Amino acid sequence: MTRSRTPVAVVTGAGRGIGRAVALMLARRGMDLVVVGRDMSPDYERYGEEMSAGTVQDEIEAMGRRALVVEGDLRDRAVADRVVEQSVAGFGRIDVLVNNAGGALAPPERSFGSQMPIEDLDDMIRLNTHSAIHCCQAVMPVMREARSGSIVNVGSRVAIDPATAGGRLAPYAMSKGALVQYTRHLAMEVGPDGIRVNCVSPGIVATARVMHFAAKRGIGTDDDLNAIPLRRFATPDDIAGAVAYFAGEESTYVTGQVLSVDGGAVLTPS
Ligand SMILES: NC(=O)c1ccc[n+]([C@@H]2O[C@H](COP(=O)([O-])OP(=O)(O)OC[C@H]3O[C@@H](n4cnc5c(N)ncnc54)[C@H](O)[C@@H]3O)[C@@H](O)[C@H]2O)c1
Repeated sequence: MTRSRTPVAVVTGAGRGIGRAVALMLARRGMDLVVVGRDMSPDYERYGEEMSAGTVQDEIEAMGRRALVVEGDLRDRAVADRVVEQSVAGFGRIDVLVNNAGGALAPPERSFGSQMPIEDLDDMIRLNTHSAIHCCQAVMPVMREARSGSIVNVGSRVAIDPATAGGRLAPYAMSKGALVQYTRHLAMEVGPDGIRVNCVSPGIVATARVMHFAAKRGIGTDDDLNAIPLRRFATPDDIAGAVAYFAGEESTYVTGQVLSVDGGAVLTPS
């Protein structure tokens, strides 16, 4: 496989929501895409997400860019290795890695720090921290050989400000907090190799899935809205714009940073 001149981005959790918006924005900015998810089959439309084609791959290809789909559970290191192998076999290079796969899946009703089962913390760390670490470690030989690369991790406002959820969601917040600190440690280590590592920290993002569950889970209330200086919830494209900044050439002197993209909800340094 000859190394193409077009930059290549790997985006995890790209089947819907924020990850899909990131993949489409990077494609619009001229990158070829490797889109990764546990399940990339078209049933990801079940939350009513509006799409311009039947699959994310079709949407990217309609923009004239190439797209490769890899399915698997990134809690398993072997899956991350397969993502990198298939990316290199297909496109010959990896310029950008976006670690977006994850979520706040631990039961919220038992998520205060005083009562959370340790198993919930383990589950969240495996999903939100291990998955990203697996991908970073798997991609490192490729980026080191190229002496360049940009890694963007997707954190969460609740990891920076516990008041966001009134002290709830501790397992999720801790797993994303570990990802924030990993971002800084890795940036320190691999900066001399020409590799940058940054983190985007979203507040509430009005994805189709979040809106689908909003009323039932008490998300998106007037109180939530009034805690945001810009008085609106984020769109997936708001987050994608920040990821694209870290992924692209406008940020070549920026590494180890955590950027809150939350309408000003967190106004203290992260
Ligand atoms: N939506 C929000 O309000 C919000 C706020 C802050 C942070 N975040 C973070 O942003 C990221 C994306 O959120 P979203 O709301 O778009 O999520 P989502 O649940 O709508 O989509 C998650 C995607 O990740 C994939 N995925 C999940 N677990 C995986 C695994 N183990 N291996 C491989 N793929 C996996 C799913 O297949 C899916 O494509 C998550 O890390 C989430 O924690 C979201």
